[in-house]
This record gives sequence, C-alpha cells and structure tokens, in this order.
Amino acid sequence: MNLRASQWKTPPGSPIERPADHAIHLWRTRLIGTEPQYEAARGVISATEKARADRLISPTLGRRSVFAFAFLRLVLARYLPVEPAAISFETGPFGKPFLPDGPGFNLSHSGDTALIAVGAQGSEIGVDIEEVNPKRATHDIAARFFAPEEIAELAGYAEGDDRESAFFRIWTRKEAFIKAIGKGLAQPLDSFAVSADIHAPRLTCSRIEHEPADAWSFGDITAFEGFEAAVCARGRIQTLSGFTA
Ligand SMILES: CC(C)(COP(=O)(O)OP(=O)(O)OC[C@H]1O[C@@H](n2cnc3c(N)ncnc32)[C@H](O)[C@@H]1OP(=O)(O)O)[C@@H](O)C(=O)NCCC(=O)NCCS
Repeated sequence: MNLRASQWKTPPGSPIERPADHAIHLWRTRLIGTEPQYEAARGVISATEKARADRLISPTLGRRSVFAFAFLRLVLARYLPVEPAAISFETGPFGKPFLPDGPGFNLSHSGDTALIAVGAQGSEIGVDIEEVNPKRATHDIAARFFAPEEIAELAGYAEGDDRESAFFRIWTRKEAFIKAIGKGLAQPLDSFAVSADIHAPRLTCSRIEHEPADAWSFGDITAFEGFEAAVCARGRIQTLSGFTA
C-alpha cells in the first residue's frame, strides 16, 4: 500500500470522521511560518512543549519544534470535540504520546517537514520521515543499525541511487515499526528485519516474542521531494488518505 505524490488532497472541513479500522489518514506540512504564525503556534502548545522547544540547540530547531507540536494538536483537534490547546496527551512507558479516548496517531519530523499518521481508536501505528542524505547511506551505518537479513538484501542492490533508495526504505520502515510498537530504540534493531523491496513493504522476520512478522503492515509514502517516509500498523492497512495542512 503506497501513497504517491499526486494523491495528497486538501483536507475536508472539521470535524473529520475518525478513520475506520484498517484506514490511515496521513497529514503533511512544512514546519515554517511567519512571525504571527509562530506566535499563534506557541499559543496552542503546552508549557512543557514550549520549554522543550526552547531547550533545543538552535533557534531554527526550536521554531520547527513549536510548529510540530502545534501541527499535532491542530490535526488531532479536527477529530476530537476539544480545542487544540486543551488536548491532554498521555505517554507510554517508552515515551510514545497517545490519547486514551482518541484515534491512534504518530508524528515524525525531519528537517523542516513533518508527517502525522492517524488511525482508528486503539490502533497501533508508527510513521517515519527521513531526508535522503547520501552521506548517511553507508555500509558502516547499515552495519551498525540494520539486521543481518537487511544488510544482505541491501547488498543485492546496484551501488549508487538504487542502493541509496533501498537504504532509506529500510531505515524508514524500521523506524515506523519501532514507533508503531511504541518502544523506540528500546526495541533492539536486530530483533526484526524489514524488506527493502519497493513493491512489498513488510516485516521479513521477527525474533520478538509474541510478534509474528505477518501481524504488521506497511505503507510507503511520497510526501516531499528528497524525503523517504513509511507508515506501519498492526493488522491490515486497507486505505491510505493524504492531506496537506
Ligand atoms: C524516540 C524515537 C521514536 C524518535 O525517532 P526520531 O526518528 O528521532 O524522531 P521522529 O521525528 O520520527 O519522531 C519523534 C516523535 O515520535 C513520538 N515519539 C516519542 N517517543 C516515541 C515512542 N517510543 N514510540 C513512538 N513514537 C514516539 C513523539 O511524538 C516525537 O515527537 P517529539 O520529539 O517532537 O516529541 C526513536 O525511534 C529514536 O530515537 N530513533 C533514532 C533514530 C535511529 O537511530 N534509528 C536507527 C535506524 S533504523
């Protein structure tokens, strides 16, 4: 299941019906804005979120973080009977934000881009977006982060653009999976493997107890030129809809 560049739409008016089981809504935005837009974004985020953004090492990263926190609240509020500033997040044992009575969701940002995946209530979903930076697609990085099956599959791609694209498909699918299960890097990255195949995003093996590889589905997302992105969910993914905020 893929979401291509041409499939992004203007969102419908609020409120938006929550996605049905096996449906995922994706939201994309650029984390940039004018001074008034920045002040408006600060106005909807929490004191904790503001403090986290203000602690970041550069003003650019701080501003992007403010826009990302606001983006998440503004998107989720479309599905909820509450104002963006009134949303109260809970956090899982490994830091994954969730809403006990709201839709399943997950946020990812890279550079000045951000993506949010929204699913049915209780759905376990993860999303990841990464800037395609050839300097990172090295054998050393793959050896450090990828499972043996992934390193072997990657070696089957021709050196150059093909291997670089395969590298970022593996990277984003891996990240989307560890974010879907909510463990982040507490989940050892060699405890499972994802495919690099452009046509068949999937878990190729799982060494995680009680997590068979076929319990999870993936979608590839073309959201911004120069970025690779993937979404992962427990169960089937039947439809992907994309909205540009
Ligand atoms: C915590 C982690 C989920 C963050 O990943 P990331 O790629 O740095 O950042 P992303 O932008 O995709 O996701 C960050 C968002 O995910 C959410 N998040 C935080 N903890 C999470 C968790 N345990 N599970 C799922 N989502 C989580 C938050 O909304 C967070 O936003 P915030 O930082 O603005 O609060 C984790 O996977 C990580 O640190 N990865 C590092 C990357 C890496 O080394 N990957 C190895 C190659 S596969």
